[in-house]
Amino acid sequence: MNSTLRLAAAISLASLLPLSASAAESKGSVEVVHWWTSGGEKAAVDVLKAQVEKDGFTWKDGAVAGGGGATAMTVLKSRAVAGNPPGVAQIKGPDIQEWASTGLLDTDVLKNVAKEEKWDSLLDKKVADTVKYDGDYVAVPVNIHRINWLWINPEVFKKAGIDKAPTTLDEFYAAADKLKAAGFIPLAHGGQPWQDSTVFESVVLAVMGPEGYKKAMVDLDASALTGPEMVKSLTELMKVATYMDPDGKGQDWNLEAAKVINGKAGMQIMGDWAKSEWTLAKKTAGKDYQCVPFPGTDKAFLYNIDSLVVFKQKDEGTAAGQQDIAKQVLGQDFQKVFSVNKGSIPVRNDMLADMGKYGFDACAQTSAKDFLADAKTGGLQPSMAHNMATTLAVQGAFFDVVTNYINDPKADPADAAKKLAAAIKAAK
Ligand code: BGC
Repeated sequence: MNSTLRLAAAISLASLLPLSASAAESKGSVEVVHWWTSGGEKAAVDVLKAQVEKDGFTWKDGAVAGGGGATAMTVLKSRAVAGNPPGVAQIKGPDIQEWASTGLLDTDVLKNVAKEEKWDSLLDKKVADTVKYDGDYVAVPVNIHRINWLWINPEVFKKAGIDKAPTTLDEFYAAADKLKAAGFIPLAHGGQPWQDSTVFESVVLAVMGPEGYKKAMVDLDASALTGPEMVKSLTELMKVATYMDPDGKGQDWNLEAAKVINGKAGMQIMGDWAKSEWTLAKKTAGKDYQCVPFPGTDKAFLYNIDSLVVFKQKDEGTAAGQQDIAKQVLGQDFQKVFSVNKGSIPVRNDMLADMGKYGFDACAQTSAKDFLADAKTGGLQPSMAHNMATTLAVQGAFFDVVTNYINDPKADPADAAKKLAAAIKAAK
């Protein structure tokens, strides 16, 4: 063998060795597609990765950057079409049932875990139904996020002469005016469609209340979509938009969160994954930052449940990994550590009812208390912007109309409401 051939043989042997060694050690390999890629989100998902690896499985990370998950969904669709879906993927809300109806999700693999771990009694029926298809679990719910939050830097508020967090839209505008006058960015905001609609749905909730929100955003009732309350919501949205970061076009949510954390901006309207960035920056809730319900929505809770679905796999070895992930995800230890890092609250009823015992901070305790209270009053509503209320096609119609609207300061709100109803009708 000449020296070149010997080198080639050595390289190919070397490249084989680590693979066969890890294959021998690993109990199975499972790829997980998700969009938890900001610093705080990564810290949270790394907890699961470490646990699954500790249990002897190989975690293939399928992270797809892009807040809100639209890019991850596109990647997932093309992988499914190519016959190569991952073992596990982050999919939410009614989209889970759509995927399940294609026959691509596994309706068997979670059966025993769900029974042994008593998922039906651990979870609220609303949560369990979200991750079931025809009575079978096809996904494991990970955590609960609340959308209608306002994040505040109290130091910046103090410098701008604002003495309390706003509780009404008028107080919000007054605070934003003071922030502007003091040279701060009033509202950190990344101009991406999902972020625009995150603000939009919080404003709709404030103006129309939970019942009105349900009629328009969940039932997609044409008269609610074009009625005076929706026109008012769009009018208020345009006003809110005037305070948004002028450098925020196309910006990622976490980079905008950083502006509030670093004291350049005073506020951000964002779901509580924003807290993951504050936690990563070693800031304490109630001291370094404030979380308050978006003004006018303290009696309502727009929920967003992250969940991991299981796809049917050709390789039978993946099943054990899928089951391990599902089992770990609903364990008390993971539920606590993940939500502490992620800014969310657990999905387990026992933990939601006793948050102090598990060491959750003030924001998380308020969130759990409101989640349980609002479930009884009808204040608990699914988020449109985060895939919990509608199909992705209808969500796309909302996103287009809302983003076009707030980017055109001359746009007429009544006209935008009509466009909204028409786009949704076409997408249904
Ligand atoms: C997801 C969160 C994620 C956020 C930002 C939401 O739709 O539910 O888990 O942190 O998007 O990417």
